[in-house]
Amino acid sequence: MEKILVLDFGGQYNQLIARRVREHHVYAEIKPYNKITVAEIRRAGYAGIIFTGGPHSVYDKTSPHYDSAVLDLGIPILGICYGDQLMAYMAGGTVSSAESSSEYGKTKVCVNCSPLFKDVPSESICWMSHTDYISQLPEHFVGVAHTDKCSYAAMCDAERKLYGVQFHPEVTHTDYGKQILKNFLFEICGCHADWKMDDFIRSTVDNLHWKLKGKKVFLALSGGVDSSVAAVLLHKAIGENLVCVFVDHGLLRKNEGDFVEQTFRDRFGMSLIRVNAQDRFLSKLSGVTEPEQKRKIIGEEFIRVFEDEAKKLGEIQVLAQGTIYPDVIESGKGDSAVIKSHHNVGGLPDVISFDEIVEPLRDLFKDEVREVGEKLGIPHELVWRQPFPGPGLAVRVLGEITEEKLEILQEADAIFREEIAGAHLETMTNQYFAVLMDSKSVGVMGDARTYGYTVALRAVSTDDFMTAEWTRLPYEVLERASSRITNEVKSISRVVYDITSKPPATVEWE
Ligand code: XMP
Repeated sequence: MEKILVLDFGGQYNQLIARRVREHHVYAEIKPYNKITVAEIRRAGYAGIIFTGGPHSVYDKTSPHYDSAVLDLGIPILGICYGDQLMAYMAGGTVSSAESSSEYGKTKVCVNCSPLFKDVPSESICWMSHTDYISQLPEHFVGVAHTDKCSYAAMCDAERKLYGVQFHPEVTHTDYGKQILKNFLFEICGCHADWKMDDFIRSTVDNLHWKLKGKKVFLALSGGVDSSVAAVLLHKAIGENLVCVFVDHGLLRKNEGDFVEQTFRDRFGMSLIRVNAQDRFLSKLSGVTEPEQKRKIIGEEFIRVFEDEAKKLGEIQVLAQGTIYPDVIESGKGDSAVIKSHHNVGGLPDVISFDEIVEPLRDLFKDEVREVGEKLGIPHELVWRQPFPGPGLAVRVLGEITEEKLEILQEADAIFREEIAGAHLETMTNQYFAVLMDSKSVGVMGDARTYGYTVALRAVSTDDFMTAEWTRLPYEVLERASSRITNEVKSISRVVYDITSKPPATVEWE
């Protein structure tokens, strides 16, 4: 299979670049610039390389640089933003810095005739974000695009198939960005578009079948899309030798536990062990109000439950996990601060020993995992399930968790989700849920005074959950949800809508 290397210099769009390449059915993988040598690149046989952007200036002492021998490998290269400047610098050109030359946002770009700009009009809009610029081209390079402020908005050395663009073709604000990447892949690198999900399924199932023949494989199924898709792939490959353990901690949404069980046991005929551990979790959580402590208790209790199950199962040879590509990419950027200790319930104890780990999805992005899920016939609602935190409703029942409060929240949350679905708004928002406040407020129903809980509804729009906007849901939908919740769920006397973005708030309330 042909592949493209996305050489990461710390740009914020590196994953987006790889995804955009894969949208053209060409496999792309991301490597930090300091984790792969020129010799390794040569050996790996890449069809092309993309240098990503990055927040640096090529002349800074700490800025990321790369061995210029990469330019002479005969492999086509596309430099983007910082990657473009770095390529110019490596090839002997000059990069300068001037506030007066900085460009940010949508910018008119004029392009010349070049394979990179096949089917791109001579004038269009691109997305710029730079202060440094190439002031002098390296020898053998020619300018092939310009803007009002930037004489070399794109450059190339066609002989060596080296191309650079100062703008960002990977973002949707660049009108012909998709076409430009397509041109790089097919006109310049000569790719054939051989990365197809049907082929992925066939070859993965085949490989897993031979690799795991006769072995017992254990998978912790959470009901999320990743572990579900991994489970179905493995089941196709090894059938009954796959044992899935699904721990129902009682902190799931309404009917979710039953749905997962029915889907995997009845529909796919898998050997699924459902552990109903609500009492166990609730007793550990009794009296606990501090969010981080809740997370810690739930994470630890998961481990204990898995330990107990593992003992019952006897020797486990292979552990399967639903790890996906963004989990395994090392970034060229530094570590960022941890705001919450995100517990993923898939965490397994060290004491469960196994000989091997398989991660059938470790090369896929989330949207590709979903595509595979659809092709495998996994129900739509599971494949497109919105993110759900490992600690579940425990971080949405503020303060102490009780069975009664969980039930109230489950009902309110189910109504909110029904209303969103009824109004076909699932694609307008990326995550939406209800949160149960810890305090009560006064209301009036009929002629009587009520004193019940307050529920907050939250819906956010986001690309990556690092930042998020509150979703502008239509008032009518909010009104219907509020009216149904106060009428249908006893003990709720007030509904509010959370209009805080992230930052300063986080998506979850705890
Ligand atoms: P925050 O609240 O940090 O949430 O803005 C960002 C995204 O992460 C999810 N989230 C979690 N996921 N374990 C998880 O697996 C956790 O402890 C956890 N806390 C938050 C949250 O639902 C949102 O999608």
